[in-house]
Amino acid sequence: MFPYIGGKKQHSKWIDPFFPEDANTYVEVFGGAMWMYWMSGKLPVDKNVYNDFNRHLANVFLCCSSDPVKMEQTCFKYYQDIGNGDKFIEYRDEAFAIYGTNFAIPDYDLAAKYMLLQLQIFSGGNGLTATTKMYHNENYKPKFKTFTEKFQQVRYLDKLKHLTIENMDCRDLIRKYDSKDTFFYVDPPYYKLESYYTEDDFGKMDHLELIDMLKNTKGRWALSYYHFDELETMLPKTKYHWHEEVTYTNNGLKKQENAWRKDGKLGTGVRPERTELLIMNYDPNEVLKPANNFEELFDVG
Ligand SMILES: C[S@@+](CC[C@H](N)C(=O)[O-])C[C@H]1O[C@@H](n2cnc3c(N)ncnc32)[C@H](O)[C@@H]1O
Repeated sequence: MFPYIGGKKQHSKWIDPFFPEDANTYVEVFGGAMWMYWMSGKLPVDKNVYNDFNRHLANVFLCCSSDPVKMEQTCFKYYQDIGNGDKFIEYRDEAFAIYGTNFAIPDYDLAAKYMLLQLQIFSGGNGLTATTKMYHNENYKPKFKTFTEKFQQVRYLDKLKHLTIENMDCRDLIRKYDSKDTFFYVDPPYYKLESYYTEDDFGKMDHLELIDMLKNTKGRWALSYYHFDELETMLPKTKYHWHEEVTYTNNGLKKQENAWRKDGKLGTGVRPERTELLIMNYDPNEVLKPANNFEELFDVG
C-alpha cells in the first residue's frame, strides 16, 4: 500500500505464481506494507490476516481497514505539515516515545502522523529511525498524498474490507492461526549473522526458532529468504521446495563484478544482482500457474 523497506512489491510478480489458491486463511506473518496481499490476484480469500510486531504499523492497517473514509479525512488534516521539518520531529519523537508500548488502537491521528513520517523520508536511506529527518522535494508529488489517494481506489478498498489485523510476535501468530487450511507468507527481516539477541532486531536465535516452528506447522507456508550457511541444513532441499530467483537491486547491497567499471565506479544502468529464495513446505508444481497479477490493470504506485 506504500513504499516500505524490504517491501515485496517488485518481487510479487515472480512470487505470486507459487501461492496456492485453495487456502481458506491467508496470513502475512511479517506484514510490513503487505505487498503480496495487494498485488496478488489470488487474494483475498475467506480470512486474510495482517500481522506486524510494530504496533504503529498494526494501528495504520487497523484504521485503514476499519474506516477508510475516516483515515483518508484524518490524513487530509496533516497535508499542511508536509515539508514542515519541525512538525516532523515533533511527530517522530511522539511516535518513538511510545514505540514498544501497548498504546490504545485504533488511533487515527497517530496512524496519519506515522504514515507522514514513514513516507516523507529519503527513500534510499535506512527507513524511519528515531533520528530520521524530513525529506521533501517540491518537484515531486509527496508520497503521503499518493498513499492517501489509495482510499479512492476500489481495488484497495475491497481488499481492506477483508482484513483482520494482529499485532503480535510471529511465533504467537503462527500458533494462533495454524491449521491445514491456512497459508502463511513469511517474509522476516534480513538475517543478520552477527546478532544472536538484540533489543529490537529479529536476531539469529529468532530466525532459528521461526524455522523450527515452521517445520511443525499443519498449514502450508512460503518463506522469503537470502542464503545463509545454516539454511540448507535446517530446510534441506530434499524435503522442502526451493525456488531461486536472480533479482536486481538499486541499492547496491552486493558488489557484482559486472556492475563496476574499470575506474572503480558503478556502471550507469547496471544494477547489482542478488538471489532471492522462496522456500515452500508444499510442492509448487501443484499450484504453479502464469502470474496472476493486477499490476497491468491498475495503477499500484
Ligand atoms: C521484510 S519486512 C516485511 C515486508 C513485507 N513483506 C512487505 O511487502 O511490505 C519485515 C517486517 O517484520 C516485522 N517484524 C520484525 N520482528 C517481528 C516479529 N518478531 N514478529 C512479527 N513481525 C516482526 C517488522 O516490523 C517488518 O515490518
